[in-house]
Amino acid sequence: MSERPVEIRDDLRALPPYRAPQVDAPMRLNTNESPWPPPEGMMKDLAERVSRLALNRYPDREAKALRDGLGARFAWPGAGVWAANGSNEIMQTLLLAFGGPRRDVLLFQPTYAMHDHIARVTGTRVIERRAHEPWVLDPEEVARAVGETEPAITFVCSPNNPTGTAQGLDVVRAALDARRGLVVVDEAYAEFGGESATTILGRHDRLAVVRSFSKSWRLAGARIGYLLAQPWMIEALQVVRLPYHLSALTQACGEVAVRHAGATLSAVEEIVAERDRLAKEMQRVRSVEVFPSAANFLLFRTPAEGTPLWRSLADRGVLIRDFSTMPGLERCLRVTVGSSEQNAAFVEALRGVLTDAAT
Ligand SMILES: Cc1ncc(COP(=O)(O)O)c(C=O)c1O
Repeated sequence: MSERPVEIRDDLRALPPYRAPQVDAPMRLNTNESPWPPPEGMMKDLAERVSRLALNRYPDREAKALRDGLGARFAWPGAGVWAANGSNEIMQTLLLAFGGPRRDVLLFQPTYAMHDHIARVTGTRVIERRAHEPWVLDPEEVARAVGETEPAITFVCSPNNPTGTAQGLDVVRAALDARRGLVVVDEAYAEFGGESATTILGRHDRLAVVRSFSKSWRLAGARIGYLLAQPWMIEALQVVRLPYHLSALTQACGEVAVRHAGATLSAVEEIVAERDRLAKEMQRVRSVEVFPSAANFLLFRTPAEGTPLWRSLADRGVLIRDFSTMPGLERCLRVTVGSSEQNAAFVEALRGVLTDAAT
C-alpha cells in the first residue's frame, strides 16, 4: 500500500477496498445483475417523470411516497419502511445506528463480503461462525452462537451469497429468541426463492429485513434498497442518516418502478427457469459439481484450480466470479444466470476450458 500524507484510522489500515474484479468482457456474469433492462413502459414513464422534477429543490427528506409504495406491497406501514442508495447503504445505516465501538456483529461464513466490511468500517467487531457445506444453517447452532456471543446484530443472508443457500425461517426465529439483539436478514435475492422473513415481521420487534432493487427489479444502476422493520427501528436510523440522502431522481425511479412492479418483476420467473436449466447443463459437464441455489446465480466446484479457470473463461470473453480463495469454497466459482444465449455460451466456454485443462 502506498504511503498516505495522512494515515487513515488505525483499525482500517489493513482493510482492502471492496473490489470485485471488473475486466472488460462481452459477457458479464459476475455481479448478479439482470441480463435484461427494465421494461420499456417503465423507462418511458421514468423519463417523463424526470423531465418534470424540480431539481433546484431538495428532495423529500423522508422519501415518503416511495416508502409508502413499498410498504403497500407487503401490507406494512410506510413508517416501518426505510429506503436508501442500495441495500448496502441500508446495512451501513443499520450498523451506524446499532453497531460501533464495543458492539459486535455475528456472521455465518461463507457469506456476502460487505457484511464484514461495513461492520469494520463502522468500528463494529466481527465475530464469525462457519457454516459447513452445503451451508444450510442449523437453528440450534445459530441459537447457541447468538447466546454465547451476545452480538448487537446477527446477520442472516437468505438466499445466501455466494452459496445460493436459502435459510429457513426457523433460523431467523432461533437468532431472535436466543438474545436481545437485532437480527438483520439480507434478502437481496428473495424474489428468486426461499422463505421470506417479511412474513414474520409483525411478530418480532428486533427483526430487520433488507431488500434490493439491484437484482430482481433490474435496477442495479439506480442504486435503491429498502428495509422493512418496526417503526421504532426506522426512527433510530433517522438519527444517523444524512439529510436528503436519497436524490429526487432515485426516489422518482423507485416510485415509477413500484408502479410498474408487475412488468418489472415478470423477468423473475424466466430467470428461475433459466437457473434450473443452466444447473442441469452444467452438471452434464464432466466433474462439475453445482450447488442448489435459490438465487439468480449458481455456485459450482470443478477439479481445476479456481483462479486459472476464472482467467481462462475471462480470456474467452466470459466474466464470472472466483470464490476459490474463500475458506470452505476451494475450487468454487459463481456464475450469474443470464439470458439463454449467455448461459449456453458460458457452458460451452466452461466445457472447453475444462477439456483444455484435462489434456
Ligand atoms: C447478499 C447481498 N446483499 C446486498 C447486496 C448489495 O446490493 P445493492 O446493490 O442493493 O447495494 C448484494 C449485491 O451483490 C448482495 O449479494
